[in-house]
Amino acid sequence: MTDKALFEPYSLGSLTLSNRIVMAPLTRNRAGPGLVPGDLAAEYYGQRASAGLLISEATQISRQGQGYQDTPGIYSQAQIDGWRKVTTAVHAKGGRIFLQLWHVGRVSHVDLQENGAAPVAPSAIRAATKTFVNNSFVEVSEPRALGLDELAGIVNDFRQAAANAIEAGFDGFEIHGANGYLLDQFAKDGANVRTDAYGGSVENRARLMLEVATAVVEEIGAERTGIRISPVSPANGVSSSAPQAQFDYIVDQLDALGIVYIHVVEGATGGSRDVAPFDFGSLRRRFNNTYVANNGYDLELAASRLAEGKADLFAFGRPFIANPDLVERLKTRTPLTEFNSATLYGGGSAGYTDYPAIAASSRP
Ligand SMILES: Cc1cc2nc3c(=O)[nH]c(=O)nc-3n(C[C@H](O)[C@H](O)[C@H](O)COP(=O)(O)O)c2cc1C
Repeated sequence: MTDKALFEPYSLGSLTLSNRIVMAPLTRNRAGPGLVPGDLAAEYYGQRASAGLLISEATQISRQGQGYQDTPGIYSQAQIDGWRKVTTAVHAKGGRIFLQLWHVGRVSHVDLQENGAAPVAPSAIRAATKTFVNNSFVEVSEPRALGLDELAGIVNDFRQAAANAIEAGFDGFEIHGANGYLLDQFAKDGANVRTDAYGGSVENRARLMLEVATAVVEEIGAERTGIRISPVSPANGVSSSAPQAQFDYIVDQLDALGIVYIHVVEGATGGSRDVAPFDFGSLRRRFNNTYVANNGYDLELAASRLAEGKADLFAFGRPFIANPDLVERLKTRTPLTEFNSATLYGGGSAGYTDYPAIAASSRP
């Protein structure tokens, strides 16, 4: 099996990526005051710019959309200016970067919400999951169901965030439709028991995700719009009784919108790839643009999936944490460094920007 093709350029819409390795979005909880990404973030992303495409950590579109402490936003001018330092650092090294945009929905805590308000959700069902707040992991708060009259505002927050992302210099925008956050909560019937136009049928449960995608495409263009989905992942306590029908439908609609990629978490996020029966090939066949595959990939699996035509790009998450030059290491088959789990969430440069690239002399 040759892995050469993984390291060759790839055309993503009008962008030329230098290789097919993508840095998956990784939340690191290091935003500064005002939830502004700082100089350290610019250094961190700049160190990883040899990935064909970087996808930023999830970034909230509004105060209401925040679910963890010290995650960055993109709804204030200071945040836009902070992100511009990141995009400048990545572009200076020839890299490309998309911003991942999220609204966490019910995966939040009253301490993060304005005036201690309840987090919002499709239905008032508390998620069986934890969030990171006040420097510790705690149960999420009881949510309230969003009113029908509030949904257009959320769609508009995504639209504005996309415009802000372009102002900050991003090459594009990834809608976070995965991992049990707001759009995934609407899509899956374990979290959505609404009886209005946003609940019940496959079409109704997909509605908010598709309205967001449509608004973002209108704002910044389909060529710059991607989306992440995780059809069978139980991340953050979501479940779906019929994920194949749900996500076949969603991907058909996304294909009709002409967005540039779907980024698919295959299996349980960060866990088993075979958590439930699901035909990811069906999503691949339905979508004409780029298919980005994620979850537990290594060099061999990526090379074989590429050779079989099962995906175009391969997103690596955890391996990028301690290996800023992951592409070079994969290419030269250099052993990977393990990350320190104690410094994943929050803190400063330790465990963030101090993982070194391999010295040229130590390459095999
Ligand atoms: C520390 C950490 C933070 C993460 N943050 C995000 C995030 O912000 N957005 C997202 O969609 N996924 C996030 N994920 C999931 C990863 O993007 C990825 O799906 C997961 O790690 C599986 O890929 P891997 O096997 O290559 O690590 C995170 C994972 C880790 C370990």
